[in-house]
Amino acid sequence: MKFFVDTALIDEIVELNDTGMLDGVTTNPSLIAKSGRDFKQVIAEICKIIAGPVSAEVAATDFAGMVAEGEVLAKIADNVVIKVPLTYDGLKACRHFTGAGIKTNVTLCFSANQALLAAKVGATYISPFIGRLDDTNIDGMELIADIRTIYDNYGFATQILAASIRGANHVSDAALSGADVATIPPGVLRKLYDHPLTDKGLAAFVKDWASTGQSIL
Ligand code: E4P
Repeated sequence: MKFFVDTALIDEIVELNDTGMLDGVTTNPSLIAKSGRDFKQVIAEICKIIAGPVSAEVAATDFAGMVAEGEVLAKIADNVVIKVPLTYDGLKACRHFTGAGIKTNVTLCFSANQALLAAKVGATYISPFIGRLDDTNIDGMELIADIRTIYDNYGFATQILAASIRGANHVSDAALSGADVATIPPGVLRKLYDHPLTDKGLAAFVKDWASTGQSIL
C-alpha cells in the first residue's frame, strides 16, 4: 500500500519524507487555505521535495474552467496529478486530462457508482472519503471494499486512494479492504508507529543494557 500525506504544509512534508514512508502528497482547497500560502508556489515546492504524485485540485466547477486550470497546474511539474470533483463536468474533465496523458485524481467520491464512472473515464486515482461517510453513519470502509470488488471484476486500472482518514484504524482497515493508497493526515501518520508496548519494552531494554556496563562502539 502506498502512503500519501494529506497536507499542504511544507515542514510536515519534509519531516515525513525523511523517514522514507512517503510515496506522494494530496492537497485540496481547504488545506491550501489552511497553509495561508500561494497555491501554485506551494505545489511547485512540494513537487521539488517529493518525486511521487502530488495532487493539486482545480477550483473551477465547470468543464472549461477545470480544463483551463488543470492545464496550468499540470505545467508546474511532471508529477502533478490534477484533482477534479466527482461531478458530470469533473468526469468530462477527467476524460480530457486522461486523453492528454495527464494523471488525475477524482475526488469527493461517496458511492460505488461514482467510483465506477471515474474508472470508466480513465481516472488514475479515485478518492472515496471514508471519514465523511462515517460521519453520516454510513460505513466508509464498506465503500472501499465495494470499489475493490467492482474494479477487480472488470480489471479497471484506476487506483483506490482512501481519503478523509481520521485515525490509525482507518489506515489498517483500508489496507485490509484492498485500497491501493491511503492519503493520511500527518498526525495520523505519526500515530502509526506509536505503541505503548514498544515504548515500555524499549525502556526496559535501555535499563537492562545500562546494567551490563557494555558499549557497542
Ligand atoms: C484528500 O484528497 C481529501 O481531500 C482529504 O482526505 C479530505 O479529508 P477531510 O474529510 O478530513 O477533509
